[in-house]
Amino acid sequence: MPDSNPLVLFMPSGRRGHFPKGTPVLDAARQLGVYVESVCGGRGICGRCQIEVQEGQFAKHKITSSNDHISAPGPKELRYAEKRELKPGRRLSCSATIQGDLVIDVPQDTVVNAQIVRKAATTRLIERNAAVRLCYVEVDEPDMHKPLGDLDRIKAALKREWGYETLEVDFRLLPRVQKILRDGEWAVTAAIHHDRETGTPHIIDLWPGLHNAAWGIACDIGSTTIAMHLVSLLSGRVVASSGTPNPQIRFGEDLMSRVSYVMMNPDGAEKMTAAVREAINELIGKVCGEVNVHESDILDLVFVGNPVMHHLFLGIDPTELGGAPFALAVSGAVHLNAAELDLRANAGARVYVLPCIAGHVGADSAAATLSEGPYRQDEMMLLVDVGTNAEIVLGNRERVVACSSPTGPAFEGAEISGGQRAAPGAIERVRIDPETLEPRYRVIGSELWSDGPGFDEATKEVGVTGICGSGIIEVIAEMFLAGIISVDGVIDGSLAEKSPRIVASGRTFSYVLKHGEPAITITQNDVRAIQLAKAALYAGVKLLMAKQEVDHVDLIRLAGAFGSYIDPKYAMVLGLIPDCDLDKVKAVGNAAGDGALMALLNRGYRREIEETVRTIHKVETALEPDFQRLFVDAMAFPNKTDPFPKLSAAVKLPEPKALVGAGNGENRGADNGRRRRRRPR
Ligand code: FES
Repeated sequence: MPDSNPLVLFMPSGRRGHFPKGTPVLDAARQLGVYVESVCGGRGICGRCQIEVQEGQFAKHKITSSNDHISAPGPKELRYAEKRELKPGRRLSCSATIQGDLVIDVPQDTVVNAQIVRKAATTRLIERNAAVRLCYVEVDEPDMHKPLGDLDRIKAALKREWGYETLEVDFRLLPRVQKILRDGEWAVTAAIHHDRETGTPHIIDLWPGLHNAAWGIACDIGSTTIAMHLVSLLSGRVVASSGTPNPQIRFGEDLMSRVSYVMMNPDGAEKMTAAVREAINELIGKVCGEVNVHESDILDLVFVGNPVMHHLFLGIDPTELGGAPFALAVSGAVHLNAAELDLRANAGARVYVLPCIAGHVGADSAAATLSEGPYRQDEMMLLVDVGTNAEIVLGNRERVVACSSPTGPAFEGAEISGGQRAAPGAIERVRIDPETLEPRYRVIGSELWSDGPGFDEATKEVGVTGICGSGIIEVIAEMFLAGIISVDGVIDGSLAEKSPRIVASGRTFSYVLKHGEPAITITQNDVRAIQLAKAALYAGVKLLMAKQEVDHVDLIRLAGAFGSYIDPKYAMVLGLIPDCDLDKVKAVGNAAGDGALMALLNRGYRREIEETVRTIHKVETALEPDFQRLFVDAMAFPNKTDPFPKLSAAVKLPEPKALVGAGNGENRGADNGRRRRRRPR
């Protein structure tokens, strides 16, 4: 028999059910698993439970929904609307009751399944289940006949109204409890931290009356840049994002030099710890200042970083990470209080640091793995984060393997004659005419090509100052496609007769990309530096493919700043990444930051990545006998032995041609086995 009770459909989840007339909409939502936020426990004072009725005929669902099918605003709602703003059409679901068929919209700013819109234009539903929540309670007044302490009566109320059977309390709150309770006239809001299902929840702060603000920080500590999101733990919205250069750069440009600094200076680790924490605190101040959030309302913080950054942030000497066996002080997730790290946050705020995968594959890779989820799907996904070390993860739901490979800083523009960091004025795009060998290029900060009208005017301010990582990839790939470079990476000196852009420099030849001041020239050594870097990356990928016993990958995800700007086509032409359908190669931006955000908004993701990291098979490239052979094969463009059928179908690769007799720096290729390992990013 059809249910005669009103039918209620919740959007955007699409969950539906029949409920007796008079059921509060919040109760219906709860019963269907549509989680609508509530701080005040349905008292009509927090305003977190807002919904909207969608009016009209919804033929597909056989529902005619109308505002007449929901109770008229009652005293609680009228009082709330009078005291605070309730936008037209909005209702408090704890107060409004079902009177007929309804289509209910749970607005994005109150929906628990908050949708995070990523800058990369992909969207992801992060089901929210934060480790910290706010619970408002009304507490019994003291009674001489029942001599329960103030704190004990708060606990009793939290058990009665929110179901917390046992609760621990941060000691620092005890001296304040009585005043808070009396200031709130026997009503308080408790912030409760409950990370592990099996652990005991903690009251980490108390406020008199209703407190309606709970914020979280998700932070990726990169060795070059620290990136941060400020997030509402009540709505899941990211309200501010910002970044700052990592001040540790003054102690050493790359990570290995920072570890060396620690080894050489007795107070080196301490100084770097202080520098990174100070920068993080400044960033917290900045993101809070942008949106007028009180730092004392930051209740939970999640951090990720490569192993060296991870250790220095936590105040751990990273010396052991400087050499084999790359021993981590701690590889599992770290839980601690923000106060122990001197962070600008609520005195009771908690910190969660994601686990590290291995001594050179850090919590940032774990976070990127959480974000991109190779272990959640059937297709074989390659996830690459390129820095001075490439951190590489390959897998599917069957098995995930990971390694790092010493790419060195060439991809970041270091070790390249005209190289520079990505900044206005840096060449980022290059095309070379295969007939004339004439180039054209674009620089960061302008959309114009160098051979088009207006380019000189547009770049007058910043100039054309150098070439950044994505530009280097493109210019060398274009040189290869135009026949200027052989498959072995030798600049063809015989072309000097054909083009004045090919010039002799000592025993080798160079390609002049830009004349004038400064001239930007691609030298044979530049090509070699890129070959070494890309060979290290590709050999690492191939090792992992061998471990997985696959001869191709289905999907490629390029994480990090470098991955965001390189053109996948050119990366494949050079053989940085294996053959794959080009439309299956995607830049995913700061995947580590996204993973930190997920772990902040849903404690379930913390367990998920902890479990995943435990099962990831770690590969140490330095110990693998095949690495050397794979490295040497990968020195060629795109590769000495591996075919690139999908790339060849999309791009016309040049016919291999005989090498010309340029002194070609082959000797540098032979030193690859002696390259020292660089630490991640
Ligand atoms: Fe607080 Fe409805 S739950 S106003």
